[in-house]
Amino acid sequence: MTQDELKALVGQAALQYVVPGALVGVGTGSTVNHFIDALAAIKDTITGAVSSSEASSERLRARGIPVLDSNTVERLPVYIDGADEIDHQGYMIKGGGAALTREKIVADLAERFVCIADESKLVKTLGRFPLPVEVIPMAAAQVARRFKALGGDANLRAGVVTDNGNVILDVRGLSIADPLAMESEVNQWPGVVTVGIFARHKAGVCLLGTAAGVKTLTF
Ligand code: A5P
Repeated sequence: MTQDELKALVGQAALQYVVPGALVGVGTGSTVNHFIDALAAIKDTITGAVSSSEASSERLRARGIPVLDSNTVERLPVYIDGADEIDHQGYMIKGGGAALTREKIVADLAERFVCIADESKLVKTLGRFPLPVEVIPMAAAQVARRFKALGGDANLRAGVVTDNGNVILDVRGLSIADPLAMESEVNQWPGVVTVGIFARHKAGVCLLGTAAGVKTLTF
């Protein structure tokens, strides 16, 4: 199976976690796009979605699924999103699609994070995928220097402005042995909006697309 077929497989499998009569939190990316397409078939069983990006909102609306403002929602039973890396504890790196801030906001509203990913995303230690960090533009150089002191090489993602009007630094060369500690540390740096480590908002379940079918990991 191709990587895209594996993504489609888990996008479809995620439907079992959608709670009838409730809202669903929707992430961003090519795997989630498959989930949105699958969700369209059962749209009459849900009240709508809270979305983590303009791109996902547009796709949801195009399929007739109402998108609610996150400020009008107190709680979501489930948030479904992809990842750039996930480890065996359910800790993730996210933000390859630059939507990490809104993703963390919607994940924070949800009781359960269901990660959908093809098997190439499963790693022993986070950090091979360059860590995305959304920063306020005037802080970019200083945040990059702080990463350098930790052994990381931070580069501005060319041509990218986030949905929130900020920039993304991609940090290479980090081996993230303690995701909770690094998330907390980087969150304290002035100008950092969101670090793409999802440790405080880790996955509770991961549906992993493998050649042998969907494997369910629970954390
Ligand atoms: C978006 O900012 C990311 O967090 C995505 O969830 C992540 O990049 C996964 O993307 P794919 O599903 O396209 O691999």
